[in-house]
Amino acid sequence: MNQPKKSASSPDRYTITAALPYTNGAIHIGHLAGVYVPADIYARYLRLIGKDVAFICGSDEHGVPITIKAKKEGVTPQDIVDKYHAIIKTSFEDFGISFDNYSRTTSKIHHDTAQEFFKTLYDKGEFIEETTEQLYDEEADQFLADRFVTGTCPKCGYEEAYGDQCEKCGSSLNATDLINPKSAISGNVPTLKQTKHWFLPLDKHEAFLREWILEGHKKDWKPNVYGQVKSWIDDGLRPRAVTRDLDWGIPVPVEGADGKVLYVWFDAPIGYISSTKEWAERVGKDWEPYWKDENTKLVHFIGKDNIVFHCIIFPAMLKAEGSYILPDNVPANEFLNLEGNKLSTSKNWAVWLPEYLEDFPNQQDVLRYALTANAPETKDNDFTWKDFQARNNNELVAIFGNFINRVVVLTDKYYNGVAPEPSDFSVVDEETLAAVKAYPDVIASSIERYRFREASQELLNLARLGNKYLADEEPWKLVKTDEARTKTIMFVSLQIASALATLSEPFLPFTSDKLKTILNIHSGDVKNSWTDISSKKVLLHTGHPIGKAELLFSKIEDDAIQSQLDKLIASKLANEAANKKVEPQKETIAFEDFSKLDIRVGTILEAEKMPKANKLLVLKIDTGIDIRTIVSGIAESFTPEEIIGKRVTVLVNLAPRTLRGVESQGMILMTESEDGKLVFVNPDTSSEAKVPNGLQIS
Ligand code: 2FM
Ligand code: ZN
Repeated sequence: MNQPKKSASSPDRYTITAALPYTNGAIHIGHLAGVYVPADIYARYLRLIGKDVAFICGSDEHGVPITIKAKKEGVTPQDIVDKYHAIIKTSFEDFGISFDNYSRTTSKIHHDTAQEFFKTLYDKGEFIEETTEQLYDEEADQFLADRFVTGTCPKCGYEEAYGDQCEKCGSSLNATDLINPKSAISGNVPTLKQTKHWFLPLDKHEAFLREWILEGHKKDWKPNVYGQVKSWIDDGLRPRAVTRDLDWGIPVPVEGADGKVLYVWFDAPIGYISSTKEWAERVGKDWEPYWKDENTKLVHFIGKDNIVFHCIIFPAMLKAEGSYILPDNVPANEFLNLEGNKLSTSKNWAVWLPEYLEDFPNQQDVLRYALTANAPETKDNDFTWKDFQARNNNELVAIFGNFINRVVVLTDKYYNGVAPEPSDFSVVDEETLAAVKAYPDVIASSIERYRFREASQELLNLARLGNKYLADEEPWKLVKTDEARTKTIMFVSLQIASALATLSEPFLPFTSDKLKTILNIHSGDVKNSWTDISSKKVLLHTGHPIGKAELLFSKIEDDAIQSQLDKLIASKLANEAANKKVEPQKETIAFEDFSKLDIRVGTILEAEKMPKANKLLVLKIDTGIDIRTIVSGIAESFTPEEIIGKRVTVLVNLAPRTLRGVESQGMILMTESEDGKLVFVNPDTSSEAKVPNGLQIS
């Protein structure tokens, strides 16, 4: 079959994919902000404007990280993926990510689809079959590819690059490109061993990629995505192995490939296709138009570390196969940091979704909103708990929630919860109603250009408009003097509230749902679509009964934020302690050596800083034998004032030494606490002395 032509500007249907997460851990805010919330906003919006949408995802269950995790935990890779698939799927459901299908790459439908895809390319002669020397760990008796090997990136010099990718500069690598490679299994330097693999000759597709992306998508792809792709293509593309010598993965479906599996980045993107098939089978649809019809718009939502795979390798695979459409856009986001540091699973520097929900039950929309309003769309961004609190308290509570609450409470109070009849509209009313009608297009334009933070701020502007309208018109004052005018104001306010209920759905699905219930506009002819907001004269009619007020958002107090910050600090300290290198024990000494040490309990009588020396304090110590001077390197840990009067342990028979012109006549014994702080080996009962971590003499 020939490659379908480019999709039309007004497509018949949309296939929206969100990167398949690796099933070796839970999902954190970085994943949500970078991929899943924007993809969900896009999919929900398209459904609201009546488009035919397949929003597709699933668990990426092959690959080395899963094998490594299984080895570490002493379980099988299947145990790992079963566990995390369930956790991740639940998180997506909890946060309202509205996938039409969430599959897994260990499913039969996926194995079949991926093998069939490989076989098609193989039969068409699209691979190079070659025996080459690959990195091998003799001790583990295993070939080293992907995350089984680390080394220095030949492009940027990063020393922890993986065998298939450098996470620092994003370069896609072959394991043999690494400088100073090291096995992640044994730590050994790998040897080279011959093995046969199948390579996708990316160089053969270079001209097509150049024309399709560099010429065809210069204007509509995000500059960060376009720039990365351009630099890879300009660097020159090389054949890339799409098979591996591993025992966890999809068997290579050709003869002479025993013990070999498909490279995880070959099978994972095909997961989008198999998940679409699974969905189509379930709902009784034909999957093919979603992948093969030129009037389908295919959009991949991913993080920036996945750009090369979605913009170069997968399109080259689709092109080589021949019957598939290519992505219309790949709106990759940059990274989200957390409180100034890179999010890190291994360092537990993250906000995990299951934990967030425990601490902030039913507040999924707050996180969705905070992450969207601060999304890393054009550059890396920082998530801070203070910003999260401000987004909630100053925007969702004070603007959106406050407006809705006032409208619902006043309608209840004045009219027993029934929408009143307006009389003549003033100029302000007319302008306000016209402004409301403009919002669907304004928000839509931002969403369609993948500017989700801008879109979220426009939504908030609509709530601001409502708040200002109420504040200016003051129905609570007029109600005493002008009944007709009050009714008109409340009628207009109810129209704004109704528009907010619909337009907030992509961003705040739980709130939108709650608001529609409060306004009693959940179904039937009172339900408004996105386009109804602009086209219908009235969104909520006179005589329509609404429900009672319910708070949409509640204030987040400082102590809730502080406890999140404390949690992060605790996890940082625990991580540092876990990774702390314990100095090996020194050579054994004889008892005679030990008995030579004359250790006494002394008291610090005086302490002062040694001039021009940051680390040194000059101490006067009463040792019980005499009063003597000791110079101690503790000035960075203690002030002179805080240690005067302190009882300390002193080695008194150490040969004197002169430091900066002052003779030091002994040493104070110090050690380190669990959190790395210098503490005295204190003769008094003290918590400091209970947690020695290796004696240190200062
Ligand atoms: O980076 C990741 O988490 C990968 N598992 C993404 C895969 S996306 C796709 F191609 F399936
Ligand atoms: Zn690099």
